[in-house]
Amino acid sequence: MRPPSRIVTVKHPIAIRCPAKVNLYLDLKGKRDDGYHEIRTVMQTVDLYDEIIIKESPREISMECDHAGLPTDERNLCWRAADALRHAAGVQRGVRIHLVKRIPIAAGLGGGSSDAAGVLRGLREMWAPDMSSRELDEIAAKIGSDIPFFLHGGTAFCTGRGETVRALPDAAAYAVIVVTPPIAVATPEVYASLDPLGAPPPVREEDFLRAVASGDPRKLGQELYNRLEANRGRHMGEVKKLKLFLMGHGALGASMSGSGPSVFGITKNLDEAQRIGRAIRKETGAGNFVHAGMTNIAAADRMR
Ligand code: C5P
Repeated sequence: MRPPSRIVTVKHPIAIRCPAKVNLYLDLKGKRDDGYHEIRTVMQTVDLYDEIIIKESPREISMECDHAGLPTDERNLCWRAADALRHAAGVQRGVRIHLVKRIPIAAGLGGGSSDAAGVLRGLREMWAPDMSSRELDEIAAKIGSDIPFFLHGGTAFCTGRGETVRALPDAAAYAVIVVTPPIAVATPEVYASLDPLGAPPPVREEDFLRAVASGDPRKLGQELYNRLEANRGRHMGEVKKLKLFLMGHGALGASMSGSGPSVFGITKNLDEAQRIGRAIRKETGAGNFVHAGMTNIAAADRMR
């Protein structure tokens, strides 16, 4: 708990864009004593967004969401983020959070974590403008492993359980096609069903980092890697099918994002991503969510 600092009274609602991510590279180094896995991953934000509108209210934290399947009480990461920040900032006020959901849920795209990071960014502006980035990172890490990454966005190398974030130099924006089949995946089950770690990863970390920095989509496509694809979840059949589909239609590389079931491909340019997106809509299951877009570089899309 810190003493309340300069508190800004914001009369108007604040709107915050919360981007999705994909994991361009994800390796595991084994299970830790706290039950989490030690990971080494390169995360990348993409131009697919949820939107959060926050407005101060007298005392309560309340939430509404246009997606019926999401809880809007203390089970929601946004709610928890608001409560944690309020406590750390030492303020007694409340907030009304309105969440517009566009990122598929339980899909490996980090939507819930990004929304929580959005709430932290917005409420820091309102309630704790003097709070250091480090303190905000610590609050974020307590709520979820991926949340510190979303305070930064862009391209970052994340280690530990994912919460230690090192920003990577901005390279180039890559075109991506993201596909999410309608299967909800529980991340803990994916980690629990992994075989013991065997051989070293087929893609060396240094080679991957060189590929991402190259700005060459062909090189990046060749080096995509996600060790979580070795899990035995029921979504893996669909993941494999979609990867083959993307490659068969001209993607330069394809991989699962996080624990799935989302799959993404890197393409030569945005036209190619859109062309493949049309093919997916036409030729695969009607329930698939499809997004053709670009990766976010620099700080442009980190903040609202
Ligand atoms: O941190 P977060 O709540 O997002 O993690 C969800 C679950 O995913 C954890 O409870 C754990 O089962 C699994 N996990 C893991 N190792 C990580 C990150 C997540 O085992 N590095």
